[in-house]
Amino acid sequence: MKAPTPGMLAIGLLGVTVFTLMMVGPPGSYTPPPEPHSTGPAPSSISVNGFTLASDTVDLPIDEQQYPDGPHADVINANCTSCHSASMAMTQPVLSADQWKATVTKMKDVYKAPVAEKDIPAIIDYLTAMSVAQDGAPTGKVQNPAPDASGGTG
Ligand code: HEC
Repeated sequence: MKAPTPGMLAIGLLGVTVFTLMMVGPPGSYTPPPEPHSTGPAPSSISVNGFTLASDTVDLPIDEQQYPDGPHADVINANCTSCHSASMAMTQPVLSADQWKATVTKMKDVYKAPVAEKDIPAIIDYLTAMSVAQDGAPTGKVQNPAPDASGGTG
């Protein structure tokens, strides 16, 4: 076995010394982190060098997170707000119960929405009622005219 040369010993010793100093730090170098002071509620505006940053709230009428109150609102809010907000359904045109059923089925089958089978009728009820109410009178604009309704009298 070859004995280490003095040069290698010196490098090793230097390494150990540097490492130790890094771990310990120079004397008196430790300063405790500043105490977080409680300032109460965050200020609503901050001024720096003549610029004022003010926080404000805005109302976004369409992007409702939750479905508005109504029969079965609790069911739909429990099932249908985890991926997208209620506005996704609230901004749809007036749809029939069958069309809503197709949408809910698509959510379940295509997007893997965890919707319990027993909740589906209540969700469709809610959506159908909401859809009609949103449009005003149910006899308003006709989204899906029945084929025999036009009569061809031009
Ligand atoms: C697992 C996630 C998920 C859940 C839960 C979910 N959705 Fe969706 N939904 C989606 C995705 C993804 C889209 C498509 C978004 C897009 O096209 O940008 C979508 C789109 C929609 C649309 C737009 C029309 C359409 O057919 O694409 C409606 C309406 C809708 N969802 C209603 C519902 C209702 C009602 C429920 C509760 C039964 C529900 N969603 C639950 C993921 C979900």
